[in-house]
Amino acid sequence: MAEKSTTTGTVDVLLHEERAFKPDPNFTAKSVVRDDSLYREAAKDRELFWARCAQELDWFEAPKSTLVWDPPNYRWFEGGKINVSYNCLDRHIQSATRNKAAIIWEGEPGEKRTLTYWDLYREVNRFANVLKGLGVKKGDRVAVYLPMVPEAIVSLLACARIGAIHTVIFGGFSADSLRDRIKDAEAKVVITADGGYRRGGIVQLKSTVDKALKECPGVQDVVVVRRTRRDVDMSDKRDHWYHELISHADAFCEPEPMDAEDTLFILYTSGTTGKPKGIMHSTGGYLLGAMMTTKWVFDLKPEDVYWCTADVGWITGHTYVTYGPLANAATQVIFEGTPDWPERDRWWKIIERYGVTVLYSTPTAIRSFMKWGRQIPQNCDLSSLRLLGTVGEPINPEAWIWYHTNIGGGRCPVVDTWWQTETGSIVISPLPGVTTLKPGSATRPLPGIEAAVLSDTGEEVKHGGGYLALTAPSPSMLRGIWGDQERYRDTYWSKWDLKTYFSGDGARRDEDGDFWFLGRVDDVMNISGHRIGSMEVESALVDHDKVAEAAVVGVHDEIRGQAIVGFVTLKHDQEPSEEMEQILRKHVADVIGPIARPSRIIFTGDLPKTRSGKIMRRLLRDIAEGRVLGDVTTLADASVVEELKQKYDEEG
Ligand code: WT7
Repeated sequence: MAEKSTTTGTVDVLLHEERAFKPDPNFTAKSVVRDDSLYREAAKDRELFWARCAQELDWFEAPKSTLVWDPPNYRWFEGGKINVSYNCLDRHIQSATRNKAAIIWEGEPGEKRTLTYWDLYREVNRFANVLKGLGVKKGDRVAVYLPMVPEAIVSLLACARIGAIHTVIFGGFSADSLRDRIKDAEAKVVITADGGYRRGGIVQLKSTVDKALKECPGVQDVVVVRRTRRDVDMSDKRDHWYHELISHADAFCEPEPMDAEDTLFILYTSGTTGKPKGIMHSTGGYLLGAMMTTKWVFDLKPEDVYWCTADVGWITGHTYVTYGPLANAATQVIFEGTPDWPERDRWWKIIERYGVTVLYSTPTAIRSFMKWGRQIPQNCDLSSLRLLGTVGEPINPEAWIWYHTNIGGGRCPVVDTWWQTETGSIVISPLPGVTTLKPGSATRPLPGIEAAVLSDTGEEVKHGGGYLALTAPSPSMLRGIWGDQERYRDTYWSKWDLKTYFSGDGARRDEDGDFWFLGRVDDVMNISGHRIGSMEVESALVDHDKVAEAAVVGVHDEIRGQAIVGFVTLKHDQEPSEEMEQILRKHVADVIGPIARPSRIIFTGDLPKTRSGKIMRRLLRDIAEGRVLGDVTTLADASVVEELKQKYDEEG
């Protein structure tokens, strides 16, 4: 195969109907991983491999064991004592790295702030003392609801420093979503801001917190970062300004020695039921996965200017903005805004301004740029870039090639990284110095990862399609679902046997053994790389007093991967109308957040159901995407679908 493919940047050839790009020898010569020795080392003895990697972390006490596997549970590095903030900060300030930029931040209106490792260290120490002063103790939960400001990173590291468990809620989530997560996690403190900038407007975070907290008696204190300087209500006892608290705080806070298996954070993500799952991540194993994969996949070197465009509200913002880059002493750019504000060249200007070398972004963003035209990036100097990454959804080969050509100038490898909130860090991805790239394929599992494509009955599919499974736990994988270990077992470890993790993704392996992802196989949608459960949106719709019943599906969308379509039956005295459609779309945005707003609502007298009453979403998807009807023999009333389809076609 190797002889038939070509070097990155030169003319590509067709290979098994796909194009392939062999690593450029000049790139390989300087890369962190230059050959297959890591793969070989891991294949020989996986546990020993991870134990060896774990020596790259600074432990207060060395682990006594590597892996204790008691399916479906597992513990990594037991007996080890470690602090994540120490590994991200303290160890770097002992060398010249103390003066290196850790965070180069740009706000949406254009302000710039640079924090060196020393600056960040001081801020985190002081904020850790602030949290302590508010009575936050090891194991307590702290909710974070912030825009992309340096204080977000500071908050996470300060929690980690004192052993508090953070749970970040994306700033686009509604008061109800915020309330549900705060209540589920039983958070004691909320960290928020007086607002955040988005496309020239202001996201009212504080008033949303106030609304959410009306039903969260457990929250004792709210810390408010001053960002927009707009007036916000500050309730006397409960609310405190971040800048006031921190100005009185001591400059040093002893990092709490944590057990490797202590929970570092909880992050909520959607599943197949209406209730989001609080995914729990560990301290030692998670940090190890974050640190090693950042270094390997992004080929990080001290001189790099790395930029991951994710928001801290998602797992990517935890692993590849906060913990991975900082554990590696990287210099990174953090940007508060969106790519199209004030103009559609904002990202490219940022890359030019700071000399960004590594860019990690999403297929949705790339497809938007494609639509806007290559002239826009062409007007900026992107020559500093040397590596590109993508995550969140399958990338279509066309978008991959566009990214490679127009952003990477044909010289930058593109790493398509597959992983999930649950895996904590990248699982399947090329290593840029060694892997032959194929547009559209995430290629192969990283060293130390055991993955396979399995059939429904659990047989391995060497070539062909099936479900992506993980056949052994890796250090950064989830340790559970907060407050619901039964759901943890049922969701992830019950499809085959207790030792085999079910990812919820369909995948195919080609003749070379490379993995191609096919999207979710459950009732989870992927909108712009964000996971939203069909049932969550359905509950939001039926929550409206005019709605009798609802079913929601994700349909193909050219830019965002998928778009949400809701099928709604109104209560008998209600008439469908365009106005009602708008009301319901807005209602979902109010209940969950703007990311869950359906792009269309189809009104219907009835919904297609099986005889046992289960909504046939597959059929609705077929209808919504205008495909031929699937097997309708299980329908209680087959005419319903035909009617629906006709109606959908008529409406265009
Ligand atoms: C789901 C996980 C991992 C951080 C962002 C999303 C899809 C993710 C890829 C990729 C194809 C991908 C999967 C996965 N996904 N990366 N490179 N190729 N699909 O995290 O919200 O936990 O969603 O995103 O369907 O299961 P998440």
